[in-house]
Amino acid sequence: MRAMKRWVSMVSWAVSAGLIAGLTFSTSSEHSSAFSAEAVAADHFEASRAGAEVLAAGGNAADAAAATMLALGVVNPASSGLGGGGFALYYRAEDHSLTFLDFRERAPRAADAKMFDAEGARPRGPANAPSQLGGLAAGVPGEPAGIEALVDRFGKLQLREIIAPALRLAEKGFAVSEALSKMGEAFDVQLREDTVMSKWDLRPGAVLKRPALARVLRAFAEEGARVIYGGIIGQEMVASVREHGGVMTLNDLYAYRVRTREPLETNAFGYRWVTAPPPSAGGFTMIQSLSILELAVGEAPELGAPLLHAMAESWKGPFLDRQRYFGDPDQVILPIEGMLSPARIEKRATLAGDGVAHPTSDYDLPVEWKRRPATTPDNAGTSHLCVVDSEGNVASVTTTVNLPFGARFTGAGIVMNDEMDDFSRGGGKANAFGLVGGDRNLPGPWKRPVSTMSPTIVLQGGEPALCVGASGGSRIVTATQQVAMNVLLHGMTAGEAVAAPRIHHQGIPGTLRVETVAPLPRELQDALVGLGHTIEPIHNVANVQAIQIERSPERLLRAASDPRKGGRPAGR
Ligand code: GLY
Repeated sequence: MRAMKRWVSMVSWAVSAGLIAGLTFSTSSEHSSAFSAEAVAADHFEASRAGAEVLAAGGNAADAAAATMLALGVVNPASSGLGGGGFALYYRAEDHSLTFLDFRERAPRAADAKMFDAEGARPRGPANAPSQLGGLAAGVPGEPAGIEALVDRFGKLQLREIIAPALRLAEKGFAVSEALSKMGEAFDVQLREDTVMSKWDLRPGAVLKRPALARVLRAFAEEGARVIYGGIIGQEMVASVREHGGVMTLNDLYAYRVRTREPLETNAFGYRWVTAPPPSAGGFTMIQSLSILELAVGEAPELGAPLLHAMAESWKGPFLDRQRYFGDPDQVILPIEGMLSPARIEKRATLAGDGVAHPTSDYDLPVEWKRRPATTPDNAGTSHLCVVDSEGNVASVTTTVNLPFGARFTGAGIVMNDEMDDFSRGGGKANAFGLVGGDRNLPGPWKRPVSTMSPTIVLQGGEPALCVGASGGSRIVTATQQVAMNVLLHGMTAGEAVAAPRIHHQGIPGTLRVETVAPLPRELQDALVGLGHTIEPIHNVANVQAIQIERSPERLLRAASDPRKGGRPAGR
């Protein structure tokens, strides 16, 4: 509690000292609220409201998560939508089960390891590599199948009822948010090349209608996901991908499958942390970091420079593991057990706890394992939302089109993802998030690229205590973990935890990133420099949504959307 008070007063101090550029956020009620029955926290208020509407109509957390995802695809096409994919972690209160649905995009069958090796002339604007812009950048979308799977397996309502709020937003229009407007400005030169997006007025507050997407949503409501995976919408989507230079076929859509996977989990700091398994490396990074931290700083660490230092150190090893070992678990075998072995964790904890910043290479501990041949494929911008319903079900969902506006073209009015940029490229080249992947994550037929998305549910005494996750590329996992620790270990409310300053380290490059939007107090930065860290400013470390489930007779749900992206929770 003492540590929490000190931290919050540091945040207030930074705010009152005017250190947070533009004072665009605070822990005010605008971005966080407490509810007594059910809650939705998305990074856009209209999307939170869509989920809350479905809950009020008798839907459960699965229905509401699906409605929120669909609404997000309408009101923030820069971050997610039917042309993308994601992961959902679902806690069902009835039997205390935890299910992980992987609806990540996968490469077209014609993909190969060298497809992005050639360097040619680049189109205008940012993020313009062939893996980031145009037809080759687009993976086969998983979002429509993921929404349908979530509702079929766990929901109570008809798809038609779940789609209704998103359809209304697409038909009647919505006010363009600051966040969407900023991203529109940054990618304007490319959006103007697309037949649909070139017509959008993305000034803040302008009313944007999406008639082309409304048609898709109506068809989805009537026919289900097969209208995309084998019907007219899919045909139009594939035609557009191919016009933009891609290799996707109708058969790629037809063959797409959602995967159910065992989530990764660990016990640390008195909680059970359940999170994303491969193809995400995010969950693995968090699990290993927590295990290292428990050894390096003890079970009740105070929030201050020694903990921040150990945290930065704890991420260096897992990010190296990601580079060397991670790939699509359907196509390569990952030595998860070896990577998480107690001896290895202990070695890394000794380094993380010795009070000096180490070069990332010090954490390089190759795992002894038999490299088995790859298995045959079995016909082989981002947003996070949390929902807790009145029955106690919890949905933690991260959904993405990768970079803002994905590959920056539409198919059937749907913004297509550029998830192919999450594959490695030959020659050790980094992707848009500075991540260098290994051979196991090279593109290949029907392969899913490695992700950082980390939808997480933390339990205590068998009951969910926190739903949390983030958007923001490689920074997703470090932000998710810090917010979770702020709530569970440092006594902050969800709103305070989400608004607090964050740091990020991903091993390579060897700098410790510190936010400019929520700067770490100067004395803490100085202390970290004193321990050997090189500080590099970064605008923000991801965008986090969280719902804390209080263990009180009132069972208050404290929901928070990240002020960094301007979202707001809803519920009752
Ligand atoms: N495209 C972001 C991620 O999957 O990590």
